Amino acid sequence: MADQELIPIYIMNKQYLVPPTLTIMRALEYAGYKLIRGVGCRAGFCGACATVYRTAGDYRLKIGLACATLVEPEMYLAQIPFFPAPRAQYHLEELKPDMSALLKTYPEVLRCLSCGTCTKVCPQDIDVKDYMAEAMRGNIAGVADKSFDCIMCGLCAARCPAEEKQYQIAILCRRLYGKYLAPRAEHLHKRVQEIMDGKHDAELIRFKTMSKDELKKAYYERDIEPE
Ligand code: FES
Repeated sequence: MADQELIPIYIMNKQYLVPPTLTIMRALEYAGYKLIRGVGCRAGFCGACATVYRTAGDYRLKIGLACATLVEPEMYLAQIPFFPAPRAQYHLEELKPDMSALLKTYPEVLRCLSCGTCTKVCPQDIDVKDYMAEAMRGNIAGVADKSFDCIMCGLCAARCPAEEKQYQIAILCRRLYGKYLAPRAEHLHKRVQEIMDGKHDAELIRFKTMSKDELKKAYYERDIEPE
């Protein structure tokens, strides 16, 4: 590609010329960086590639996922593959799904200022301030629900003036919700019991002896919604 079709970006304050069609992650690699941290799924799900940047002439600090954000001219970049926000040590069996769990593990939860910086910075557009308000009320189900799309990138904790670990609080609440509050899937329980009782053993042995074509036929002719 000719030079005039490339745009300047700055990585660690050093200028590189890269194609404007690249994501930040691809641009880092185009510039010669071999990514061994700060990269995972490459598809916006794992939260490994949090990035902060400024663009020329704009005072604001911006954020994005490196795998999902396109480069812009004069972008000054820094990766945050890890932010120091250690998870509290706990055993779910020793916690109750209420405020006592949060006070035991993350008592600093009550320091939240409700300033909303966390919400502004979240690349998933989660209203982090809102789920922190639920956390301060001890509403575990509310936090679990409102933080459901969190990918644990850590940007909320990185920007928090009250030094909260929002995403760690949220995943504790989702775990507590899953263990204690989520409705049980009775049909799943029933099916697991059937399997343990050997109800499907004969059928399984029959499938194992089938040819590939016989298996395909059986698959397409299966009863999709058995009574
Ligand atoms: S690499 Fe997984 S979210 Fe970007």
